[in-house]
Amino acid sequence: ALPELDETDSKYKELILTLPKDEERVKHRKYQGFWYSERHLPGILAMQEVFKPRPNDVILASFPKSGATWLKALTFTTMHRDKYAFSDHPLLELNPHDCVPFIENHYAYRDEQYLETLPSPRVLATHSAYSTLPESIMTSTCPIVYICREPKDVLVSYWHMITKLEYLKEPPSFAQTFESFCEGRVHGGPVWEHVLEYYTKSLCNPEKILILKYKQMLECPIDGVMRLANFIGCPFSEDELKNGLVEKIIEFCSFDKLKDLDVNKNEIGNLKNSYFFRKGTVGDWKNCMTPVMANKLDKITEEKLRGFSFTF
Ligand code: A3P
Repeated sequence: ALPELDETDSKYKELILTLPKDEERVKHRKYQGFWYSERHLPGILAMQEVFKPRPNDVILASFPKSGATWLKALTFTTMHRDKYAFSDHPLLELNPHDCVPFIENHYAYRDEQYLETLPSPRVLATHSAYSTLPESIMTSTCPIVYICREPKDVLVSYWHMITKLEYLKEPPSFAQTFESFCEGRVHGGPVWEHVLEYYTKSLCNPEKILILKYKQMLECPIDGVMRLANFIGCPFSEDELKNGLVEKIIEFCSFDKLKDLDVNKNEIGNLKNSYFFRKGTVGDWKNCMTPVMANKLDKITEEKLRGFSFTF
């Protein structure tokens, strides 16, 4: 696990200690309008100050638990389809997070040099809000693909994840997490602002930011993967389409296929690979949330989205 803020000697520590704090079990601080877990903030700040993308990098952005693992697998496989055969593919041995690293985590662990060792074109990821991205990403030519998901499903997925974190000796109850989520006090929160920032930026600059939606990707993955490939500059050829390559990529990166690989059943470390493959469906919130809670969250979502032509 990332070290506690008290245990780091990050040069950003003093600044972080001045930020508004949330005293819940998972400690968060508010930085430039967004709450981030204290453990992740040194990485977010270092990335913001230091990171320089290469012009041909592809950046995958998301609010946590919105489908990053899936998007990483799809993008990596699509981008490197000429390099790797399905029978001898890195994703058979590595979790998608090991093929496509979160930039801020490598800054937090002080091994950002690792990012430099990756061959171009790199696929990199972040949970940073648009506001806290490095200026260098905003002004570069590299495309940003953002995946978003309906907030009730995000919350349920998030809660299941944090209940498994070993460093949380007493994981929060669902009701506690619900309150924090509604108030935006979760990593990257509030979710609505996180999504709407990328969304409004994508409207101004559709060549820079592509918005994908988890539900749409599940309903029509062919359309999603073709848009993804076009956007990152590696569209499928007629021959590839005729040979069913898009369908093959979708099958290769499907929840059932990835979940069943030994590497993704692995139970090592604090964030075990298996935690990233739970149900992979839409609407699982019904199994956790009371109708009153669902109604409250829907009302917040409706309110936040008012005036935007955006739906999940
Ligand atoms: P659930 O917890 O609802 O099952 P992230 O990757 O951003 O952490 O999001 C995790 C969510 O994506 C989890 O949702 C997980 O099961 C789901 N997921 C992981 N791999 C997937 C895949 N290949 N296809 C669809 N959903 C996937």
